[in-house]
Amino acid sequence: MTTLGTPLSPSATRVMLLGSGELGKEVLIALQRLGVETLAVDRYENAPGQQVAHHARTITMSDPAQLKALIEAERPQLVVPEIEAIATPMLQELEDAGVVRVIPTARAARLTMDREGIRRLVAETLGVPTSPYKFCDSLAELQAAIDGGIGYPCIVKPVMSSSGKGQSKIDGPADVQKAWDYAMAGGRVSHGRVIVEGFIDFDYEITLLTVRAPDAAGVVQTQFCEPIGHVQVSGDYVESWQPHPMAPAALQLAQQIARTVTADLGGQGLFGVELFVKGDQVWFSEVSPRPHDTGMVTMATQWQNEFELHARAILGLPVDTTLKSPGASAVIYGGVDATGIAFDGVAEALAVPGVDLRLFGKPESFVKRRMGVALAHAADIDTARRNAKEAASRVKPRKA
Ligand SMILES: Nc1ncnc2c1ncn2[C@@H]1O[C@H](COP(=O)(O)OP(=O)(O)OP(=O)(O)O)[C@@H](O)[C@H]1O
Ligand SMILES: [Mg+2]
Repeated sequence: MTTLGTPLSPSATRVMLLGSGELGKEVLIALQRLGVETLAVDRYENAPGQQVAHHARTITMSDPAQLKALIEAERPQLVVPEIEAIATPMLQELEDAGVVRVIPTARAARLTMDREGIRRLVAETLGVPTSPYKFCDSLAELQAAIDGGIGYPCIVKPVMSSSGKGQSKIDGPADVQKAWDYAMAGGRVSHGRVIVEGFIDFDYEITLLTVRAPDAAGVVQTQFCEPIGHVQVSGDYVESWQPHPMAPAALQLAQQIARTVTADLGGQGLFGVELFVKGDQVWFSEVSPRPHDTGMVTMATQWQNEFELHARAILGLPVDTTLKSPGASAVIYGGVDATGIAFDGVAEALAVPGVDLRLFGKPESFVKRRMGVALAHAADIDTARRNAKEAASRVKPRKA
């Protein structure tokens, strides 16, 4: 698709985002700039992306009947999943029937919504190195998996969860029951299946943003952004920076893994490939077939940020992944449980050199909900990290 239309007219190129959080909002803005007609779907009203799209719809996206009815009624050319909790078998059905094209593919959305699908594909079919792992359906199976070779320390995660929900580290036998109970409480669906992974004692972890977009001849090519380093606290990202320095051998291996995994998932678009690195060793951790939260830093560091890259790639347009400047991002949490909160200190935050802010406009704040992000560009990543963190700390969310 290389012809674009006029929004709100019969020629419109229509794109539906399934999930309209802070990442979807930026994809929608990138699409808006190309004159694409946008439709923002979420499970609650006034989600960030719904505030910038032509149309907003609120449905339960994990309900296949609701999802089907909406797609058939709206008939977008492209459906772009932004979150994992979607009725992906229904997307597959609609894609197979030729009703819609799913980004990057319905299969990729289905495999990555659940840790088991993507892990088995990558480790068992593609032969890419990952942490040792087992899937377990009960506390007894979990204990047996640990005793049978996974060992301590290890990490337990519900197969369906994100942002560290229900995830914990087990250091010894005394932690097993607690980790199981925590996983059962934190998973997206209650039928408790978990993955237990051996703990990788990595030097650092990166997100390698990988773009599959067609070249001038229409052949899909794979391009990489500079590696993004990040810090995770309890499985949730708090800080990221780009470029993360890497030894050439490790970078080459990281790119090879990212190429292999994204080529198998196929389609067009941007992927966030999460990798662990120790010396020249690289392990695949997981992949998002869509922009990645740690990649918000690219709004300060690249000529085309990850959202613009995704928008271009899915529309079949050329992309440029080059770095503009080193930079960093730091998350701004809600700090309070309240609706319609106020943000003090915005001017003070923006007074930090090279800093920019995104406040997502989420209607409801929770203590640990991501409500905004500070972005910084600087001559080096240390300065950028310091400035991004300083700016984030100056923003003070409070009850209005
Ligand atoms: N096997 C492991 N060994 C060491 N650290 C790990 C392992 N698995 C996960 N972690 C740590 O926990 C973080 C979150 O894990 P993971 O990405 O699997 O969870 P998630 O819930 O999908 O998080 P998100 O949705 O934020 O990406 C990783 O980025 C890493 O820092
Ligand atoms: Mg992750």
